[in-house]
Amino acid sequence: MKGLAVIGLALGLFISQASGAAQSSRIGDFALLDQNGKHHKLSWYGDQKAVVIFVQGNGCQIVRNSVAELRAIRDQYAEQGVQFFMLNPQSQDTRDSITAEAAELGYDFPILIDETQLIAESLGVDRTSETFIINPETREVIYRGPIDDRLHYETQKSVAQNHYLRDALDAYLAGEAQPTDVPEAPGCLITFAARDAHTTTPPSYSADIAPILEANCVKCHHVGGIAPWAMTGHAMVQGWSRMMKEVLLTRRMPPGQLDPHVGRPIQEAAGLSPEELQTLVHWIDAGAPGDDAPDPLEALAFSDATFSMGEPDIVLTVPAQDIPATGVIDYRYVPVPLNLDEDIWIRAVEYVPGDRQVLHHVITYLSSPADRTAGLEQDNGGLGESLGGFAPGRQPDIWRDDSGALVRAGSSLLLQMHYTTTGKATVDETQIGIYLHEAPPKFVMSGGSAGQRRFLIPPHVKEYPLEGVQEFERDALLYGLMPHMHYRGKHMKYIAEYPDGTSEILLSVPKYDFNWQFNYQLEEPVFMPAGTRLIARGAMDNSEQNPYNPNPNMPVRFGLQTMHEMFFGFTTYRYLNDTPESVVANGRSL
Ligand code: HEC
Repeated sequence: MKGLAVIGLALGLFISQASGAAQSSRIGDFALLDQNGKHHKLSWYGDQKAVVIFVQGNGCQIVRNSVAELRAIRDQYAEQGVQFFMLNPQSQDTRDSITAEAAELGYDFPILIDETQLIAESLGVDRTSETFIINPETREVIYRGPIDDRLHYETQKSVAQNHYLRDALDAYLAGEAQPTDVPEAPGCLITFAARDAHTTTPPSYSADIAPILEANCVKCHHVGGIAPWAMTGHAMVQGWSRMMKEVLLTRRMPPGQLDPHVGRPIQEAAGLSPEELQTLVHWIDAGAPGDDAPDPLEALAFSDATFSMGEPDIVLTVPAQDIPATGVIDYRYVPVPLNLDEDIWIRAVEYVPGDRQVLHHVITYLSSPADRTAGLEQDNGGLGESLGGFAPGRQPDIWRDDSGALVRAGSSLLLQMHYTTTGKATVDETQIGIYLHEAPPKFVMSGGSAGQRRFLIPPHVKEYPLEGVQEFERDALLYGLMPHMHYRGKHMKYIAEYPDGTSEILLSVPKYDFNWQFNYQLEEPVFMPAGTRLIARGAMDNSEQNPYNPNPNMPVRFGLQTMHEMFFGFTTYRYLNDTPESVVANGRSL
């Protein structure tokens, strides 16, 4: 008897889960931006007991009428470790229209904007107002259904008789089986136009998929490139396709993604359009089939063993670095003498890594004799100003618009080199090629930063805001932006506050990843009138939820090593009235 009862119970549990979460009882991890451009990744909420997702859509009566009760439930359960979100998968809604409706109706929830509808598809969403309970650690869908039975089309009861969501939360938090007999949620049916189109006409590998990969992935995923596997053709891509779906939906690849809804246009901005993501994921869901046409990826050739800009004027070889097979390697600071007898004007700098698999980034700091006398090095924590650097997939640093950077005789370079291990010991001997202007250029490029050096990040804190300011005392043109933090870096924005009182977001990195040090180049330089305050605003994550965090129990200060932190929004700019002559005359450099 006892045995039978156990079987019955187990079966009951199985059935209720299956009916509660029709299409999938476990979903893949995902990351989305909310209406304020904040990044949320499901697994980051793994320290919560549950995540509740309520499907929102603009203009749906049932959604609007549900929010008061959803808020009441949130206020009751938030302290028990339940995190509440709205999810908007409506293709007709935009960030602006969602923000407007949220403001009008007073929605005080983060609204995850599922522009591709891919998260709604994986949850099996059918109508708005559907509500999900997800275990953020196992990503199991615990409950799917309505909030309660108060609302229906054209009818509203004044009170609900059945409180499905509360009952489901209570059962889950008490470790009990989910109630059965949960009806479908009312709400507005959602159109999945892209999914339907791709079901009728599946994307073609050679015509649709390969070009997206070529444009967004292959510069790193080629033989000899930084990525551990190369997209050499259909068989390879098909074999990796499920993993590709995971890194696409968690926004891990391509690295360096920006919030596409704010900021100025950036050269070669990383990130796929919603249509490209839908095409890739629907193709992967269909089994990643190949076709008979010639394989475009097989035809690609790469040569990254040499300088792409031709023979440099100066070639510096960085002292050989021994890289072990495994383990975490602290940042290495490698001095490289320049041995200059006279001042030079740099036009461009290019890096050729000795071993692309292990070299993740180089940030090059320049310290001139004058910087050292003025104590500038001290101020930067021992470093000089940044002279650009290297990151995989990054183009050479070319000073644009007939400008150059002045490097004084007697200056020296200090490289911050970040290596990762790949399972195979190796030696990296990176080369730096410096290209010079033959005559002084027309304009002078400078490097600066909006940084914060005095901070103490308490242990375990999930979001510790930091801010730094760079003031432009003269009219300038801004060219490049390079956020720099270490393992705890979470996000960073650059905001310009102009002297006329207006302000604008220039760039937003919603999910910073210290592995990638991108120097974002503004497509068009942005005018910074004298008196502009350029603000780098961001946050650190010193919690257990940050998988990179080497030690969440430690308070963290500013410091050069990866166990310490840095908070810099580096900038490349030029003062409009600087000329090579004036800069040489007043003794400055860079
Ligand atoms: C700027 C270089 C770069 C680009 C661009 C890039 N990748 Fe990667 N990719 C890497 C590196 C390096 C790794 C190894 C893991 C790591 O360091 O994060 C990787 C790993 C992966 C993995 C294996 C999972 C893992 O994390 O180890 C997949 C799958 C993947 N990339 C898919 C893609 C897809 C799809 C694109 C294009 C949409 C893409 N990558 C674009 C560099 C890149």
